[in-house]
Amino acid sequence: MMYLLSVLWSCIILLLCLNSNYIGGLALSLPDSHTCVIGAGYSGLAVSRYLKEFGVNFTVFEASRYVGGTWRFDPHVGLDEDGTPVLTSMYKYLRTNTPRQTMEFGGFPFPANAPSYPTGTCFYKYLQSFVKHFDLMPNIHVRSFVTSVKWIDHHWELTYTQTDERINNTVSCDFVIIANGQYVRPLLPNFPGQDIFNGSIIHSHDYREPETYKGRRVLLVGAGPSGLDLAGQLHNITAKLFHSHHLVYNQPKFSEHYFKKPDVEAFTTDGVVFKDGTIEEVDDVIFCTGYEFYHPFLDKSCGLTVSGKFILPLHQNIVNIRHPSMSFIGVVNKVITRVMDAQAEYVASLIAGKFKLPSQEEMLKIWLAHVYKLQYQHKKIIDVNTVGSDMDQYLGNLTKEAGVTRVPTVLTEIRDFNAKNRLEDLLNYRDYDYKIIDSNNYKRWHNGGGNRAEECPIEL
Ligand SMILES: Cc1cc2nc3c(=O)[nH]c(=O)nc-3n(C[C@H](O)[C@H](O)[C@H](O)COP(=O)(O)OP(=O)(O)OC[C@H]3O[C@@H](n4cnc5c(N)ncnc54)[C@H](O)[C@@H]3O)c2cc1C
Ligand SMILES: *[C@@H]1O[C@H](CO)[C@@H](O)[C@H](O)[C@H]1NC(C)=O
Ligand SMILES: *[C@@H]1O[C@H](CO)[C@@H](O)[C@H](O)[C@H]1NC(C)=O
Ligand SMILES: *[C@@H]1O[C@H](CO)[C@@H](O)[C@H](O)[C@H]1NC(C)=O
Ligand SMILES: *[C@@H]1O[C@H](CO)[C@@H](O)[C@H](O)[C@H]1NC(C)=O
Ligand SMILES: *[C@@H]1O[C@H](CO)[C@@H](O)[C@H](O)[C@H]1NC(C)=O
Repeated sequence: MMYLLSVLWSCIILLLCLNSNYIGGLALSLPDSHTCVIGAGYSGLAVSRYLKEFGVNFTVFEASRYVGGTWRFDPHVGLDEDGTPVLTSMYKYLRTNTPRQTMEFGGFPFPANAPSYPTGTCFYKYLQSFVKHFDLMPNIHVRSFVTSVKWIDHHWELTYTQTDERINNTVSCDFVIIANGQYVRPLLPNFPGQDIFNGSIIHSHDYREPETYKGRRVLLVGAGPSGLDLAGQLHNITAKLFHSHHLVYNQPKFSEHYFKKPDVEAFTTDGVVFKDGTIEEVDDVIFCTGYEFYHPFLDKSCGLTVSGKFILPLHQNIVNIRHPSMSFIGVVNKVITRVMDAQAEYVASLIAGKFKLPSQEEMLKIWLAHVYKLQYQHKKIIDVNTVGSDMDQYLGNLTKEAGVTRVPTVLTEIRDFNAKNRLEDLLNYRDYDYKIIDSNNYKRWHNGGGNRAEECPIEL
């Protein structure tokens, strides 16, 4: 509570020091402007497509040698072939845990006969086909790891390391779009005794394939999307799989090597003690304990409060209220991937001058009203970027304010059904295909399972 109040106070102070040259309805587009985008994953690619369509001059800075972000499998762990941190969290045999219809870019669907739950490899291929279709490669600078973004003399200075030559360059940008991903920075717990444990400990960010764990005694911690997925991949290949979590769901019939466990109490040199007092010997630990936001390149001059859980104050979870020429795509929790495409269209429309933001004062008032509502609902400031159950309304608001294509309500319905169904039928929920009938209706049928999973009718 004290924290919330102090945040509010700092915002009121912020209100008093808003840049006076921005007050009034904000039309941001400038002739001959240059826009810098950080990251060429789904979000960076989505915004590139709209920027290009709207005739905006832009450059994308991508740390790795590749487009596609987390959807590209990289066998490296830790550092890649350029000595750059491996940012992708993709592992072998992954299939999407949401129907592709909730992930497709607007107006660019998969071929109709593609399965609704394609493999990660197939989704990566889809992203590559998008880059090819919209000819985005000329605007993307790969091997360009952004290390700092500063607001100096009414423009942005973006510094990046060219990872091939190991040299640093600084470029000037009128607009900055931050699309560096949400599942890059592992969140690691620290249990008593963790440092004396003699086995291996990794985060699911560094997990690549089940074969590594053949015949071993493994502890899996957590039952979020990665924890449940890895339970499915590991229960029948390990000697013993201990799965520590407190999710209430319809646990499927895993093999006899699978053991559900309560929360971890502590580690010993060769094993783990659980909250119920049971002790088990284990060889390997995989923490499926989630991720946090990570924006180490944002200088203080950006005027934001940045943490692993939230960023504030942002208008529509997108626009930096202090400096509205900076926007974020993907700083939003519990939404479908298609939301990032809507945010991308919003940002590109803003830069192209297709709509005007409210004044900074007005944006801050709207934002404060949102924070008061959180407080009223007994939520905390860490929920400030969570859209979750308000997703359809949020999408409606983006359309109302900026005129972006309305993401149909049916996608929210599919999300809600899938989220429930996944926990009801973990091992089989992907054996179904979906078809969207209109903006409110879809149909779903069993697709026979089996090799259907491997189908990927995309030509590159
Ligand atoms: C294992 C896993 C499975 C998932 N499965 C699903 C699913 O089934 N369905 C679903 O809807 N969503 C899923 N997601 C969510 C997924 O994050 C989104 O689908 C989508 O990939 C987000 O795209 P993004 O562009 O925002 O982030 P990313 O894909 O992470 O891309 C960010 C890009 O920014 C680059 N970058 C980062 N920092 C810098 C820097 N400092 N300088 C330059 N470049 C930088 C990275 O190299 C990367 O290319 C999954 C996520 C993970 C991790
Ligand atoms: C785009 O911006 C860059 C960087 O400012 C500049 O060098 C280039 O000339 C611009 N291109 C066009 C077509 O305006
Ligand atoms: C480039 O920038 C990085 C990150 O700020 C720094 O660690 C490195 O020393 C710089 N390299 C050179 C050659 O200046
Ligand atoms: C840790 O493991 C190594 C290699 O298996 C072994 O030699 C060592 O005795 C172990 N240490 C403890 C404290 O168990
Ligand atoms: C293990 O189970 C998964 C499904 O949960 C299945 O796809 C895989 O083929 C099985 N592997 C083995 C070795 O039985
Ligand atoms: C949508 O806009 C309305 C009216 O401005 C606002 O009250 C509501 O909180 C917004 N909803 C979301 C999810 O942003």
